[in-house]
Amino acid sequence: MDHRAQEVISLCRKLAEFTEESGHITRTFLSPPMRDVHHELGGRMEQLGMSVSVDAAGNLRGFYPARTPGAPRVIIGSHLDTVPRAGAFDGILGVVMGIVMVDALTTLHMSFGIEVVGFSEEEGVRFGVPFIGSRALVGTVDEGLLALRDSQGASVAEAICSFGLDPARLPEAKLAQNTLGYLEFHIEQGPVLESLDCPLGVVEAIVGQSRLNACFTGKAGHAGTTSMKLRHDALLGAAKWIVLVETVAKSIPGLVATVGRLEIEPNAGNVIAGKARASLDVRHALDEVRHQALERMLNGAKQIAADCGLTFEWEQHLDQPAVAMDQTMVNRLGQAVKATGYPVHHMASGAGHDAMILAQKIPAAMLFLRSPGGVSHHPDENVLVEDVQAALNAGMHFLKQWEMHLG
Ligand code: HGY
Ligand code: MN
Ligand code: MN
Repeated sequence: MDHRAQEVISLCRKLAEFTEESGHITRTFLSPPMRDVHHELGGRMEQLGMSVSVDAAGNLRGFYPARTPGAPRVIIGSHLDTVPRAGAFDGILGVVMGIVMVDALTTLHMSFGIEVVGFSEEEGVRFGVPFIGSRALVGTVDEGLLALRDSQGASVAEAICSFGLDPARLPEAKLAQNTLGYLEFHIEQGPVLESLDCPLGVVEAIVGQSRLNACFTGKAGHAGTTSMKLRHDALLGAAKWIVLVETVAKSIPGLVATVGRLEIEPNAGNVIAGKARASLDVRHALDEVRHQALERMLNGAKQIAADCGLTFEWEQHLDQPAVAMDQTMVNRLGQAVKATGYPVHHMASGAGHDAMILAQKIPAAMLFLRSPGGVSHHPDENVLVEDVQAALNAGMHFLKQWEMHLG
């Protein structure tokens, strides 16, 4: 095993120290610790002879040129942001892998350049909408997105300006015309590879996802003096709905649905809740199945609201279709995994990834690394050094094969 695999893990753990919340790993869109990440990774990129910039969406962009000027390029990347109280590898691993692979390739003078991208925002935590970073590369950051406001009332455009960037320069963030494709290394974030004792997984497709905010409105009241039959309890309505969401999800093979956030007003133990806001995240490999499930969940909410004397509103902020990875790249990734001596397992991704956005414009593929314990979006998230070595071996083989196919 060469030293690089351990270097990848050590660097990911070092970057985990750049956080908004001491004692936890929390790094959201253009937050102050993101500047530290740019400095740390940008410095390493420059040491390798890469040109480094931060684009108007806050993406860290490093470029290592080919042996001939004007040659095409490939992108290796993932996201730099995290969910609240995250693990040390979701996203950042893919960026560090790209940098370490450039380090290993500098002596090879490849026929294509390598751009390593650290996306500024994939999780959708600060503004409720994911993929702001990668959407800048495919040119879909629009006025509506720039106008979205965070919990402090700041808009995306204001957040970009506060970070010292200029939203007017977003068009410059778009993909270079001669980009051949996108490769993302990412932890699986689930139990499949571990259950198969497989270090790597070749991603065939990424499931589609719907994300929305729901709101039940009733009437706040005194917990002690309001009889049960006179109540319009918004939290009760939300609770009934959460059970209904689970029931619908369990009735549909392969569908997952999550209510991960619940905000109550006035949120006091002796007050009947007047308002309950709930998030909803629904995912499935087939878009039609996902849409039908969502409709059942929304109709159920309307019925619960009617039964409990509440009003129900919702606002959908993501309807992301399922995305197939590029078949040629998938086949070559599988060949590279096999050629470097590892079992080949093709699979779908239940998690969303920047690859699904890049795939709108260029061929995209992903290589998963086993998640010990199937754990992710949690401090116990981990990777095995031997699996990082496997990914480096397969990734290097894949890039060299790519170069051969270019002729
Ligand atoms: O939520 C997800 O699918 C990913 O972690 N962004
Ligand atoms: Mn994630
Ligand atoms: Mn991720």
